[in-house]
Amino acid sequence: MDKFLATLNKLQDVFTTAGVSCSDIDLPQIVVVGSQSAGKSSVLESIAKQNFLPRGSGIVTRRPLVLQMIKEEREKEIDGQMRHTWANFLHSGNKDFTDMDLIQDEIIADTNRKCGKEKGISDEAIHLKLHSTKIPSLTLVDLPGLTKIAVGDQPKNIDRMIEDLVIRYISKPNSIILAVSPGNVDIANSDSLKLARQVDKDGSRTLAVVTKCDLMENGKESFEVLEGSKVGMKLGLIGVINRNNEMLLRKIPIEEVMEMEEQFFKENYPALGDRMGTKYLSSRLCDILINHLKKCLPEVSDRITQQQEKHRAILESVGGEGIDPRQALVSLINAFTEAITLSIDGKFTFSEGDAEK
Ligand code: GDP
Ligand code: NA
Ligand code: MG
Repeated sequence: MDKFLATLNKLQDVFTTAGVSCSDIDLPQIVVVGSQSAGKSSVLESIAKQNFLPRGSGIVTRRPLVLQMIKEEREKEIDGQMRHTWANFLHSGNKDFTDMDLIQDEIIADTNRKCGKEKGISDEAIHLKLHSTKIPSLTLVDLPGLTKIAVGDQPKNIDRMIEDLVIRYISKPNSIILAVSPGNVDIANSDSLKLARQVDKDGSRTLAVVTKCDLMENGKESFEVLEGSKVGMKLGLIGVINRNNEMLLRKIPIEEVMEMEEQFFKENYPALGDRMGTKYLSSRLCDILINHLKKCLPEVSDRITQQQEKHRAILESVGGEGIDPRQALVSLINAFTEAITLSIDGKFTFSEGDAEK
């Protein structure tokens, strides 16, 4: 499974570099959606087990951030030191970032380069690859938070601009929606679930995530929310606890918070305990992705063949096969098509999650 996801990640990268839009191929992506301050960045950071996202009040995320997490088998020597975690930006070539604070600075700088220092937003994604021996191979997209009102220099219609951007991402039938809602706000009013239902009526590709479970009043009502049937998404609902401001300031390690989280659910929701928390969310996402891929493989395969034909036609029209950077792409596509064929033949083992439930 990891090998398959690794190939997928590599392919995505080549497409981007070669200027082939991912939407032409429509590979599955996990898209994180929610209102401002719902806890989207915190969820992403918990899954990635690193702090590298800019935070603050107002619209901090103003461009989509495509976070490609890559599970590494071994540590890498960088500047004379062995590292278990490092990162690269597509826009800064092979430079390895090991200081998470510098990654944060680079995200802010590149956001300002594209959107200006004003509070504008842009469709153009930042691509960040995070390598680590400690994370699963997953690709997640962080989007600007849904908002109701423009502040300061923001365009008056910023709410619509963000909503349109989010809808463009989650409308792709091939995307998996991670709909984040804060536990301390009535879930019936969740903006993320409202949007998700617009594009995914029965919730067959929406996983609801309730953050801030520590701030929910523990009782019958919160149990009913976390139990999930109220929200009625086919992929289900997972409650999590991430770091609050104080824990952030005290720099409490994510691993430590995850232990507290596990303990909290065991104590307060014993009947749901093992289906709650960040650890379960990560493994559930891997399962969902594999199941989703399995369903989409025939279509993805068709699209890749179409692209391949298109590129071949272009090559022929320019009169030769010579040495063309596209050649590398084509051979990767072939490798991928082979991997798909293998998996259709059942030689890859897929874990049967409960997507059908
Ligand atoms: P985003 O705007 O959706 O990306 O939200 P953030 O991840 O930046 O979180 C907003 C605020 O909520 C931050 O101050 C976090 O520390 C806090 N927060 C996030 N998750 C939790 C949680 O599970 N419990 C508590 N108490 N606070 C949280
Ligand atoms: Na929300
Ligand atoms: Mg954020």
